[in-house]
Amino acid sequence: MTHDTVQTAPIDGQKPGTSGLRKKTRVFMQEHYLENFVQSVFEAIGGGQGKTFVVGGDGRYFNAQAIQTILKMAAANGAAKVIVGQDGILSTPAASHLIRLNKTDGGFILSASHNPGGIDEDFGVKFNAANGGPAPEGLTGKMFEATKTISEYRIARFEDVDLGSIGTSERGGLTVEVVDPVADYAALMESLFDFDAIRTMFQSGFTMRFDAMHAVTGPYAKDILEGRLGAASGTVANGDPSEDFGGGHPDPNPIWAKPLMDLMMSDDAPDLGAASDGDGDRNMIVGRGIYVTPSDSLALLAANATLAPGYKNGLAGVARSMPTSGAADRVAEKLGIDCFETPTGWKFFGNLLDAGKATLCGEESAGTGSDHVREKDGLWAVLLWLNILAERKQPVQEIVEEHWRTYGRNYYTRHDFEAVPVEKAGALMDGIVARLGDLEGQSFAGLAVTGADEFSYTDPVDGSVSTNQGLRIWFEGGGRAVLRLSGTGTEGATIRLYLEQYRAPQEGTTDPAAEVLEPLRQAVLELAGFEKHVGRVEPDVIT
Ligand code: G1P
Ligand code: ZN
Repeated sequence: MTHDTVQTAPIDGQKPGTSGLRKKTRVFMQEHYLENFVQSVFEAIGGGQGKTFVVGGDGRYFNAQAIQTILKMAAANGAAKVIVGQDGILSTPAASHLIRLNKTDGGFILSASHNPGGIDEDFGVKFNAANGGPAPEGLTGKMFEATKTISEYRIARFEDVDLGSIGTSERGGLTVEVVDPVADYAALMESLFDFDAIRTMFQSGFTMRFDAMHAVTGPYAKDILEGRLGAASGTVANGDPSEDFGGGHPDPNPIWAKPLMDLMMSDDAPDLGAASDGDGDRNMIVGRGIYVTPSDSLALLAANATLAPGYKNGLAGVARSMPTSGAADRVAEKLGIDCFETPTGWKFFGNLLDAGKATLCGEESAGTGSDHVREKDGLWAVLLWLNILAERKQPVQEIVEEHWRTYGRNYYTRHDFEAVPVEKAGALMDGIVARLGDLEGQSFAGLAVTGADEFSYTDPVDGSVSTNQGLRIWFEGGGRAVLRLSGTGTEGATIRLYLEQYRAPQEGTTDPAAEVLEPLRQAVLELAGFEKHVGRVEPDVIT
């Protein structure tokens, strides 16, 4: 067996973003591109010698090939063992679980999450640390530094490993164990939820549609929902993972999961609609006739979590990303537990979960999870909803409206302006930053600003500080706008504008969100100068 050392040179732009390194697939396919980054990960973690890793991905184009490269590089870097999902498949939460379950030194997850897949679309690589969570900023910083000085990488020369059959083999001193991607994850879910109660609910006629969006959750959802829980066959739609996600955009929101939305708003709607994204960490929850925003879903799950066996002893705390609405804060307050506000990106929840300060976490971008893994987890959220529905025996709409009547409602929406030229997006953001100190007291489209700042976060566990995490502007009447630039896009800049307006129970909680948020939208469009900088006020995507 030969281990080659290949001469290379730094490649620009290999800086991990909100969630790993994400680029166009063809960029990843360039000579040395993937290899440079993977070697830099090994350098950043102090080498691969004697270590064990988990490797798998969401099955998108280039997944299988990239895995073979990583196996060969792991062997040449002295790794002892790699655990791989059969056919190279592992959802992000399942990979996180395998890292923890097998006490490995970390794992490589190949995915560009909800971004489309295919040779002309997106690919990505994330490294998760030994706690099962995304590499924290200190570690991604080291990776990036290593990409800037790399001069060689190590790769073994052996035949591709057969990933189709479960079992253990040995290559170049490396043990490769191919595992069932679903089994351990499904067992973990059974330990958290009352499968008997959910099965009884399905037996009594409860109906559901789960849209796997041709992505990784298909096999997981079929095994758990249709297999173990007895949901009718056909409950899981688009359940076969495909390399380009059936040509679609595997992002579970009302825009990209429109067929599911249409069904749920029709007379034929089942009791529950749900969807997950490319790599299985996001979720969408829709009741018959009602879409549950991810921010509300987090609050509802927090308020009802003790109905599931895994959370029957209560929650240590909850955490939400800064742009996520304050709905969860109200629940935490009532429960008498902490609610942490972190920067965007799941990596910021890791320390809180490890330290036992938070049990549930969530982001407005359809991410919800708990301390059972160190990633957000789409199917977990769906199962917690099912467990709650099995206990409460009420329709989703009734549960949501009851929640609003108790806590009030944080009306919420997000507007994305995509593929904006980088300089223009920067000018818009810089223009606000330059005026941050003067905004208070000024009015825009008739709404007065009551406060504004740039969010920075001090991690309560390790004291690390993350600055420049988005702009927050508060308005009279309880409105809040947040602006930040996406860290996951692969084309130009994406400006995300988040709008939130709280209304107390007696102020009305069932009005159309767009109507309630319109004055706020007008105010922030004017304040930020969208027309001037971007040339438009209409976003590409509203979620
Ligand atoms: C987006 C979401 C963020 C999420 C990330 C990875 O990041 O906004 O909440 O953690 O994808 O799924 P962004 O593109 O905004 O940086
Ligand atoms: Zn994802």
